[in-house]
Amino acid sequence: MKQPVSMASVHAFYADVIRRGRNTAENLQAAASERFNNLLGSIGDATPRTALDLGYGAGAYTIALARAGFHVVAVDQIPSDPLLRRIGDAGTWARRIEPRQCLAEDFIIDQDFGVIVAKDVLHYLTRLNVEALLTSAVAHARGENYHYLEVFTGITRRSADGQLLRIEGEAGYTPESFRRGIERIYKGWDLTLLWSQHAEQDSRTGLNCFEAIRATVIAANRAA
Ligand SMILES: C[S@@+](CC[C@H](N)C(=O)[O-])C[C@H]1O[C@@H](n2cnc3c(N)ncnc32)[C@H](O)[C@@H]1O
Repeated sequence: MKQPVSMASVHAFYADVIRRGRNTAENLQAAASERFNNLLGSIGDATPRTALDLGYGAGAYTIALARAGFHVVAVDQIPSDPLLRRIGDAGTWARRIEPRQCLAEDFIIDQDFGVIVAKDVLHYLTRLNVEALLTSAVAHARGENYHYLEVFTGITRRSADGQLLRIEGEAGYTPESFRRGIERIYKGWDLTLLWSQHAEQDSRTGLNCFEAIRATVIAANRAA
């Protein structure tokens, strides 16, 4: 196993590729998924029109939420300029987006967000921070709230020369430890947990550089 990769270098990587509008093996420039769009389309009037997108990246989920009528707080550790450039003066929906440059773990959830999205970001946080963030989100949920999370578990990363890599401070969930954490935090919510295999290839070697089991969580607070 090589020395752990620093979280600072992971953060710098995203700031650079997003600033340059580049795509990556993980398909950063992809549009919001059909699964997410279907969820968005099914949300009714009992859900507050406020949303939080943690780790928004190139902004696909933030934009989908704003277009659907949500006022979106968009949080990422990268500067906000690429998102502001992308939305430009696209009209009313663009004015519903409020970007914030900050770490997800430092963002204080002190309001009732109707929808919270965290896609492909929470695995970079410590378990303690993931669970504190979600617990606080649940504690502030008042209406028929929805949380949509996609989180990598059981991750294996390899360098171009095939050595195992890990990132300092990452959550390191197994599917089982993640499931247990989610079931504890979302007690009393309707919970859908879906699992899929995920792999990314190194474009230089053609070999898998990232393999994981992706957990998709759709949590609905219908008891409100
Ligand atoms: C794989 S991208 C996912 C982007 C977007 N959610 C999507 O699925 O299209 C990960 C994003 O999380 C951000 N990120 C990583 N760690 C973070 C942290 N601790 N706090 C806030 N943003 C973070 C990165 O800057 C990057 O934009």
